[in-house]
Formats: sequence, C-alpha cells, structure tokens
Amino acid sequence: MKTLRVDLPGREYDIHMETGCLDTAGARVRAVCPRAKKLFVVTDTTVGPLYGRRLLDSLAGAGLEAGLFAVPAGEESKNAAMLARLWEEMMARGLTRTDAVVALGGGVVGDLAGFAAATILRGVDFVQIPTTLLAQVDSSVGGKVAVDLDHGKNLAGAFWQPRLVLMDPATLDTLPDATFADGMAEVVKYGCIFDRDFFDFLAARPSRAAVMGEIEHVLYTCCDLKRRVVVEDERDTGARMLLNFGHTVGHAFEKAGNYQTWTHGQAVAAGMVVAARLSVELGVLEDGGAVARLAELLEALGLPTRIQCGWDDIVEAVGLDKKSAGDHISFVLLEQLGRAVARRMPKGEVLQHLKAIYGG
Ligand SMILES: NC(=O)c1ccc[n+]([C@@H]2O[C@H](COP(=O)([O-])OP(=O)(O)OC[C@H]3O[C@@H](n4cnc5c(N)ncnc54)[C@H](O)[C@@H]3O)[C@@H](O)[C@H]2O)c1
Ligand SMILES: [Zn+2]
Repeated sequence: MKTLRVDLPGREYDIHMETGCLDTAGARVRAVCPRAKKLFVVTDTTVGPLYGRRLLDSLAGAGLEAGLFAVPAGEESKNAAMLARLWEEMMARGLTRTDAVVALGGGVVGDLAGFAAATILRGVDFVQIPTTLLAQVDSSVGGKVAVDLDHGKNLAGAFWQPRLVLMDPATLDTLPDATFADGMAEVVKYGCIFDRDFFDFLAARPSRAAVMGEIEHVLYTCCDLKRRVVVEDERDTGARMLLNFGHTVGHAFEKAGNYQTWTHGQAVAAGMVVAARLSVELGVLEDGGAVARLAELLEALGLPTRIQCGWDDIVEAVGLDKKSAGDHISFVLLEQLGRAVARRMPKGEVLQHLKAIYGG
C-alpha cells in the first residue's frame, strides 16, 4: 500500500495505490467528500461489468447512494454529445452541488466524467478510480479533463483536480496485452525523461509479468514524477512540456493511421525512438547506444519502434503547415537516458533533421 500527496494549494489530494482497494473505496470516498449523499459513477461497457458491482457495494457499505452510468467503451464516447447526456442524467438522478462524480475506467472515462464534474452545477467533487495502466500512470493525475471535437482530440476541456485518485493494481489483470503495452509506453517515457534508475529498473524487467511483479513501485514512481511536474506547472506552461517526449512525431503517426492503425502508446513508442535519434543527430544526446537500449526495451514490451507515415503528416505535426503560428517549435530531446530538455528550434531545422532520420 502506498500513498502520494499532490500538494496543490487549496486543492491537495491523495493518490492511493493498494491491491484490493476497490473494496474499501466507500470509506475513502466518504472521507474526501463528507457532504456527498449521492454519487454518480461513470464507467464504460467493458469496465462496468468487471468492477462496477464491487465499487457500488463498497460505496453502499459506506452509506453512500451510488448509481452507475456506463458509456460505450472506446474513444468514440469522449465527445460533447455524451457529455450532454451525462449532464442530463445527473440532473435526472437528482445530483446536487454537494454530491460527487466518480470515474471508474480508463482515460476516456476519466476525461469525460471529469469534464462533466467540472461543469455540472458549476463544478462538483470528483474522484478518479483509473483501471488502465495509462490512466493510472498518466491521465488520472494532473487535473486535465476534456472531450474530443470533430476538429481534434481534447479540444474542449478544463482543469479540474480530483479529491482523490484511487488505484487498485489488480484491475490491470483483465487488460488486453495491447492495452497494457500502451500504458507501458508512457511508463518508459517517465524513465527516459526524468529517472535513469527507473529506466534501468524497467530494462531489467522487460515483460508484462515482470512489471506486474513490481507494479506498486512502478505506479508510485510514475505518479510521483507526474505529481512533481503538475505541482510545479499546474496550468501546463513549462515543465509539463517534457511529458511530451515522443508525442510530437507520435501525433503524426496517430494521425497518419487515422487514429485506427496505431494506438496512442504505439505511436508514442515509435515517436520516442525518433526523438532520441533526433537528439543524437543534433549532438544533444552523446550516448549513441541509448537509442538502441530504448528501442530494445520498447520492442520487448510489444511496442513498435518504427512506423511508416507520410511526410505531410510529419510536417503538420511539427507545425510548419499554415494552421500553426510561429516559426519555432519546442521539441523535447534527450540529453541522456533519464534526462530530457525542451529545445526551442526553427521548425525548418527540425524538419531538415527529421528528414535525414526519416528519409521522408
Ligand atoms: N487527462 C490527461 O492528462 C490525459 C493524459 C493521457 C491520455 N489521456 C486520454 O486518455 C484516453 C486513453 O486512455 P486509455 O488508454 O485508458 O483508454 P480507454 O479508457 O479507452 O481504455 C482502453 C480500453 O480498455 C478497457 N478497459 C479499461 N480498464 C480495463 C480493465 N481493467 N480491464 C479490461 N479492460 C479495461 C476500456 O473499456 C477500453 O476499451 C485518451 O482519450 C487520451 O486523450 C488523458
Ligand atoms: Zn501520451
């Protein structure tokens, strides 16, 4: 059992990690939402049948009246129409200003339910119970909530900090391998950008089973790193930037596959390898062997290290197309495994080097 405190002034909250804590969620939720009588639990059609009953029983055991609302599993549910349905449903069930919303699921449910909590009745308490690895190490911590628009992902959203993040590592046991690997891309990212020892720790445990053997340490390390960045830079204006390692080119890969061919984690994995190679190319990363170590670890975890995509998609991701302002980009590079820097560079220069690497 491990607990981390996120010290945002006036909005402090705990991240609690414990196997089996789904069954003791009721008491913990009550402690952080003492005025709540009703809880609106948002989940999806995959997670609801797996874990909904246990959570509802635990909440009822703590004297809380809780109802479940399951959205269809998948990114397609993270939209404005579904948000509006949640609003109406919350009102239909008589939710009041002192009640609370609970997200039980992956990042989709967390982002959607969090945005609903931030906006209904001008904001009600919110609790995150993330059930994917990605949600546990990344999306449930930091307070960013959003829905997708036709114009792009996460375009409508807010900052809304939870009262509590509760993670039960045992929920990860039911994840498909590919979804687990997806989360591992972000886990490896933390090692790359902030913590060489953690990277080495992962490199020595390059499989799902080995990672699960040390899952509390993995979750704790990632959440601790993300927590520090968030406390330093709640509104995402500086330090959080480093978390984008692998994501600039990764977005190009995601988009090239029309968000179908490659998952976010797969795209980020290949994007990190490109960013590491770019770091070598620019003389920022001197240890050429680092790229191979990174690629080897990602591959062992079942993630791609190379993705083909059109040159236009790369150009667009770097922002040289007419849609984005300015002729400079902050690109996150590695100085070594365990240390990243954001380097402001002319977009043209970035592209020139990417072309050399990518052969586009
Ligand atoms: N808010 C942030 O800071 C932030 C950061 C990163 C990503 N995100 C968002 O997170 C979303 C991706 O999150 P995700 O990868 O968790 O996707 P997801 O929520 O769609 O979950 C992936 C799949 O796993 C299933 N699932 C969830 N938990 C399960 C379990 N325990 N057992 C079996 N199946 C389970 C889900 O039903 C879904 O089909 C994206 O929308 C992304 O934009 C947000
Ligand atoms: Zn990511």
